[in-house]
Amino acid sequence: MKIILLYGGRSGEHDVSLLSAYSVLNAIYYNYYQVQLVFISKDGDWVKGPLLAEKPENEDVLHLNWAEQGNDAKVITGQLISPCEIKEEEAIVFPVLHGPNGEDGTIQGFLEVLGMPYVGAGVLASATAMDKIMTKYLLQAAGIQQVPFVPVLKSQWKENPKKIFEQCEGSLIYPVFVKPANLGSSVGISKAENREELQNALEEAYRYDSRAIVEQGLEAREIEIAILGNEDVRTTLAGEIVKDVEFYDYNSKYIDNQITMQIPAEIPDEVHQKAQESAKKAYTILDGSGLSRCDFFLTNKNELFLNELNTMPGFTQFSMYPLLWENMGLKYGDLIEELIQLGLN
Ligand code: ADP
Ligand code: DAL
Ligand code: MG
Repeated sequence: MKIILLYGGRSGEHDVSLLSAYSVLNAIYYNYYQVQLVFISKDGDWVKGPLLAEKPENEDVLHLNWAEQGNDAKVITGQLISPCEIKEEEAIVFPVLHGPNGEDGTIQGFLEVLGMPYVGAGVLASATAMDKIMTKYLLQAAGIQQVPFVPVLKSQWKENPKKIFEQCEGSLIYPVFVKPANLGSSVGISKAENREELQNALEEAYRYDSRAIVEQGLEAREIEIAILGNEDVRTTLAGEIVKDVEFYDYNSKYIDNQITMQIPAEIPDEVHQKAQESAKKAYTILDGSGLSRCDFFLTNKNELFLNELNTMPGFTQFSMYPLLWENMGLKYGDLIEELIQLGLN
């Protein structure tokens, strides 16, 4: 059986995908699978690389290009292909892609059209979980507690900024968090303490998406639950992101290592249980399958607010999702194997 590992991608989380893909690549059971590398460039070109029959020596194998790169030893020349050319029998696609054009149902829809099995969530769950506004509406309807928010489309902002300020200030209190609706890894997110910062934050968010969301800023701990399964859904104990930075931004996530993960989180049993129940409920409502990581805010009064679901969470060996499963006794390699089996079912 062959695994087609799709990685890179057009989103602002391209580089994160490379980190995740390298860890996944290292943990695949090469006695069962061969791995066909397919890289998607930031411009959306698809590049077919080598077929691996064993664990690669180093991450250089992921640095694919489709033209000779002079003497840059790190870059391997691959073959530029049309996306449809990935189709083959006896293969499953593992889209280790984060963010839009990868984690948002577009790739999943394409794979459905090709008739190929793939790892992870389907079209509906991917598309709704990627969009922070749609997620909020659906979870609100299900009675899951979330942070108060105001959705702000770019067209509404351009038409009447004063009205948007009034709407935000009418239902939220500074500081607020402003986010592009479709992205991840904190790209495009800012905290705003006043009108001027709110304006700048909205303009920053619109660099990435025409849909933005303004949320009530909370002073809260951040806890996360890992979810695994199709119909039979399992959850882990919660882990906590312990940070001494103002918020968990891109730098603290991937550059500065300013956070630690406390697994399991030191929280009362009933909070673990409530988080697990809410995570499972949200996953079911959004039609989750394969995997997701569900993230919460926890206030000092032990109030729990569901923040988001990530249908392809960060997947490095140091990422919360696989570490949460390791704490439950499921090793990284076995987790990958289980995800492949779930994708084949
Ligand atoms: P992403 O999808 O990019 O991960 P998040 O909604 O998780 O976006 O926001 C990224 C980080 O920003 C969070 O992990 C948290 O540190 C901070 N943050 C986001 N929303 C809020 C909020 N309403 N109150 C306090 N902090 C927030
Ligand atoms: N979007 C990143 C990869 C995460 O949620 O882990
Ligand atoms: Mg997040």
